[in-house]
Amino acid sequence: MNQSNPTTIKFFSGEELPVELHKVRIVQKLHLKPIDQRLEAIKRGGYNTFLLNTTDVFLDMLTDSGTNAMSDNQLSSMHQADDAYAGSQSFYRMEKALNEVFGKELVLPVHQGRAAENIISQAFIRPGHAIPMNYHFTTTKAHMELNGGKIYEIYTDEALKIKSNHPFKGNIDIKKLVDLIAQYGKENIPFIRLEASTNLIGGQPFSIANMREVRKVADENGIMMVLDASLIGENAWFIKQREAEFANASIKDILRTMCGLCEIVYFSSRKVSSTRGGGICTNSKELFMQMRDLVPLYEGFLTYGGMSVREIEAMAVGLIETTDETVISQSPGFIEYAVKEMDKLGIPVITPAGALGAHVDAMQFLPHIPQAEYPAGALAAALYLVSGCRGMERGTISSVRLENGEDLLSDMELLRLAFPRRVFTLSQTKFLIDRLNWLYHNRELVGGLKFVEEPKVLRFFMGRLDATSNWPEKLVEKFKKDFGDSL
Ligand code: F0G
Repeated sequence: MNQSNPTTIKFFSGEELPVELHKVRIVQKLHLKPIDQRLEAIKRGGYNTFLLNTTDVFLDMLTDSGTNAMSDNQLSSMHQADDAYAGSQSFYRMEKALNEVFGKELVLPVHQGRAAENIISQAFIRPGHAIPMNYHFTTTKAHMELNGGKIYEIYTDEALKIKSNHPFKGNIDIKKLVDLIAQYGKENIPFIRLEASTNLIGGQPFSIANMREVRKVADENGIMMVLDASLIGENAWFIKQREAEFANASIKDILRTMCGLCEIVYFSSRKVSSTRGGGICTNSKELFMQMRDLVPLYEGFLTYGGMSVREIEAMAVGLIETTDETVISQSPGFIEYAVKEMDKLGIPVITPAGALGAHVDAMQFLPHIPQAEYPAGALAAALYLVSGCRGMERGTISSVRLENGEDLLSDMELLRLAFPRRVFTLSQTKFLIDRLNWLYHNRELVGGLKFVEEPKVLRFFMGRLDATSNWPEKLVEKFKKDFGDSL
C-alpha cells in the first residue's frame, strides 16, 4: 500500500480505527425492533430484504445507491436550482463539473445508471454482438441482452477468489480479450466495458496499467471502450493506494487518466455523487449524436434527462467532492475496518476489502445449504432477523432461471453489507460485526429458502420466498436464550 487512509487514525493504544471526519448536523431516527417483530417483518417481506419497510430496519446496508449522506454544500446548492425545461443553468453547471472531473465535454443527462445502459445498449448493440467486460452488473446485463448482445466476463484467475491479497481483482485478462476478439471478429464487438470497483465481485478495482493494456488491444482492433463510472471515485482511491505510479497523484488526476482512456463514460449518480440521476459523457461528437436522440425519447429534454434541477445542482457539487480524499476514502476506511474484524473472527469475507461494502461469502458461512436453496439469500434474511441490519443478496437469487427451469447458479454467493458514505458510525459498525459473529457461531441453525413468487426479469427485486423449514423460529428461540432479551 502506498498511502494510509486519511480517515483511519493511529491511536495511542496501538489500534488503528476509522474516525469520522465530518460532523452530524441532521439526523434520522432509526428503528431497532424486538426480534419477534423482525420475524414478522421478514415473513411479510417474503424473506427478501428488498421488500422490507425501513421502519422495520435498524442499519440499512442494502446499498449505497441514493443513500450516501449529502454534504452541506450539496444541500445548499439545491437552492440555486434553475427551474427550466430547456436550457437550465443547473445543467450547464453539471456539464462544467463533469468536464472538470472526468475531462469529458459532451454530456447526456439520464434519470439513473440503468437508463444510461439502456441508451448505450440501444445505440451500439445489435443481435449477435459480443460485449467483453471485467464483470457484469445486473442491470447492465439485462439491457445488453435485451438488445441481442451476449456478455463475456473476462476476469483474471484472481477475481473470484474469496481470500486474496491481489490489489486489482477487477482487472481484465488480456489474453482472454484477444482470444474473444479473434473468435467473434472485431466487427461484432461494439465496445469493451470496464466497470470501476467491480460491484458484483466485491467492489474490486482495476489498475490503470490494466486499462492501458486493454486500450492497446482496443486500438489495435478499432474497438471503443466504455467505462461504467458509478464507483469510479473509490477505484481511483484504490489506485492511489495500491498502484505505485499514482502514489503521489491527486484523485482528480487519476480520475482524468481513467476517463481519458475511454471513449464513453457513464455513471449512476446515485452512487458516484451521492445524489440521484446519472449521465453519459464523451468527447466524440459522432458518438454523442448516435445516442442523443434517445434521451428525449426515454428520459426527458437534453438539459434535465428525467432529473429534477435540484438533483442536478447537488450532482455537480457531489462530483467535485468526489475528488476530495477525505470524502472518497471514508467508506473504504470503514469497510476495511469491518473486513479486518470479520476476518479476525473467522467469518469468511472477501479480501482485500473493496468499495461499496463488506462482502460475506455465504457458501463458506453456510456450507450446509445447497446453492439451489440460496445460501446468500438465507444469510441476508438470517442477519436481518438477528440484528435488524439489512444487507443485499448477491448470488443465485440475483441470477436468472434458465429455459430448462433450473437456476443459473451464480459464480459467488455473497451477502453484501453496504457502507454508504458518511452514514454509519463506528459503534453501529461494531454492533453489526457482533451480531454477524453471533450468527456465525449459530450458523448450523440457518436453513435454505425457496421461491413462492418469481418475477421473470430481475427477480431479486420483487421475488418472494419462504423458509424451507421452521429454521427462522429456531434461530429466534436461540437468540432470546443467549441475549436474555429480544433486541
Ligand atoms: N452500474 C453499476 C456498477 C452499479 O452498481 C449500478 C447500480 C448501476 C450500474 C445501475 O445504476 O441503480 O442508478 O440504475 N447499483 C446499485 C447497487 C443498484 O445497489 O449496487 P442505477
